[in-house]
Amino acid sequence: MREKNDSSIRKAVFPAAGLGTRFLPATKASPKEMLPLVDKPLIQYGVEEAVASGMDEVIIITGRGKRAIEDHFDISFELEYELKEKNKLKLLAEVERISNMVHFSYIRQKKALGLGHAVLCSEPSVDGEPFAVILSDDIIDAKTPATRQLMDVYEKYRSPVVAICEVPRETVSSYGIIDAIEVERGVYQVREMVEKPSAEKAPSNLAIIGRYVLTPDIFDHLKQTRPGKGGEIQLTDGLQGLMKERPVYACRFRGVRYDAGDKLGFLKATVEYALKNQSLGGEFRKYLQGLNLK
Ligand code: UTP
Repeated sequence: MREKNDSSIRKAVFPAAGLGTRFLPATKASPKEMLPLVDKPLIQYGVEEAVASGMDEVIIITGRGKRAIEDHFDISFELEYELKEKNKLKLLAEVERISNMVHFSYIRQKKALGLGHAVLCSEPSVDGEPFAVILSDDIIDAKTPATRQLMDVYEKYRSPVVAICEVPRETVSSYGIIDAIEVERGVYQVREMVEKPSAEKAPSNLAIIGRYVLTPDIFDHLKQTRPGKGGEIQLTDGLQGLMKERPVYACRFRGVRYDAGDKLGFLKATVEYALKNQSLGGEFRKYLQGLNLK
């Protein structure tokens, strides 16, 4: 058991209680986080990233209609029994691996009051330690897991870190955008964060995306944060408050990010991941080539 004042990061919070309106009607009765990207649900990619980054505890913030997430990461007695009986041992091993990856716990966010509120719900489980936040609809394909890259910045600067990437100017109004000074290659000290600015008012095209390393003092600021854009408690507003007390850094991670919570982003991720898939990639490439797209 590690000491509470040991500041290494071992907990990852997965806010997964959002309504997924951009992906309706698919998300009417099924969680967005369970949409399959080739053969695994989106959230499993995030959990695998957390494990590969060195986490040993995953805290999932769920809401109504999200039971499938818990079932996915739990043991499935009947399925495992059937697979054993039918000697499908490779599949059995894969199914067992999912529930053994890491320790899981769940917290209900009773109402979708925003990402900042979802993070605040994790306070009792985070229990005074620095922690990572992973939004599983941002799929990041990277050699070094994106969360690990943020943790490396945290370990050097001992301050909260947000993940950023460059986005086209015309899309800045969908993101939190930073104004920042680059302190080393790919690492910035944030001067300001603006939630969903217009293209004219945006201080840059560096957008905050779904990976964070946070320190427990964020919770006091989230408690004081009033609903902002869209009537939701925004994590960026809480971070703005925190920035008055301590520096906050941004890491331009190395890797490719797909917004899989959006229909087009999801399709792009599906094509790329299918092409890279060992057993499907070759056939799928041939199929795409045969489409003769104009
Ligand atoms: P999004 O902005 O993607 O919202 O939330 P959403 O509801 O999931 O999807 P859209 O925009 O309506 O299509 C970012 C992350 O924060 C979580 C979501 O589950 C997602 O992982 N979230 C958002 C919560 O956990 N609770 C909330 O109240 C809002």
